[in-house]
Amino acid sequence: MSATGLSQPPLAFVDLRRQQETIRRRIDSAIARVLDHGQYILGPEVQGLEVQLAAFCGIRHAITCGSGTDALLMALMAQGLQPGQAVVVPSFTFAATAEVVCLLGGIPVFADVQKATFNLDADSLKMALLTARHLGLAVAGVISVDLFGQPCLYDTIVPVIEENKLWLICDAAQSFGASYRGRPVGHFGAMTATSFFPAKPLGCYGDGGAVLTDDSSLAGVLRSLRVHGSTRFKRRCCSKNWRFSKARSQPESAQPAGMTPSCRKRSGAPYAATEQPASGPNTRSLSPRATR
Ligand SMILES: Cc1ncc(COP(=O)(O)O)c(C=O)c1O
Repeated sequence: MSATGLSQPPLAFVDLRRQQETIRRRIDSAIARVLDHGQYILGPEVQGLEVQLAAFCGIRHAITCGSGTDALLMALMAQGLQPGQAVVVPSFTFAATAEVVCLLGGIPVFADVQKATFNLDADSLKMALLTARHLGLAVAGVISVDLFGQPCLYDTIVPVIEENKLWLICDAAQSFGASYRGRPVGHFGAMTATSFFPAKPLGCYGDGGAVLTDDSSLAGVLRSLRVHGSTRFKRRCCSKNWRFSKARSQPESAQPAGMTPSCRKRSGAPYAATEQPASGPNTRSLSPRATR
């Protein structure tokens, strides 16, 4: 009998040790390579990872940073969220989605999620916008969340967002590598934030994250925000150090090219024991049931 009173030790939700065994030698040699060349800050491995991430998603820019939460914060800052402005977020998500709005002095307004997908519901989004206006709040944008690996039904929420002239930031911490109607995550909002927390679809051995965008001017702002809001010779605003650490960025420990097979595994046997993912009109290339 174990300390938990169970006859068997609990089944690891995501067995990172087993995953690591298959790539351990590559990780060790990649870390040795970084120690040998000594370019520890935003060097060739980070640049290489950003190129791979962007290519994997078919998008122009991937800007890595310290975590998925940092990615959301940087995206909100790049979008220019002002204190007192409201942002609609789903009521069912990880705390970070709403927390970042508060950290910048914004006001999160909660909209409900769909029963079938746990993702933002278009009718609830409309109601949240009406309620916010009724309360005299100026709504600036929406953060959608693709929970449990399933992209939102973007066909239903994007028209509401466009009609109301709002921006959309997508929180893809749990859905990197998924697609909706044949388009990979990364293409649905002005910016998409993702996380490399170890148990995420694209995990690394530590904390990490990235913002994906097709917009070159937003990419420039994000790169500057990542390094104290500075360009080479100028500071454009107050920010902080949000850089992604080199050893964690080894392609072996965060590897988009090798990601799809491991994501596919997630929708396989271990998940079959849980309730089946809800079906809907959207195409989903992977359906892990939970990733935290
Ligand atoms: C939906 C969602 N958003 C944001 C985050 C924050 O990511 P991180 O832990 O890398 O800061 C998470 C992490 O669990 C998440 O699940």
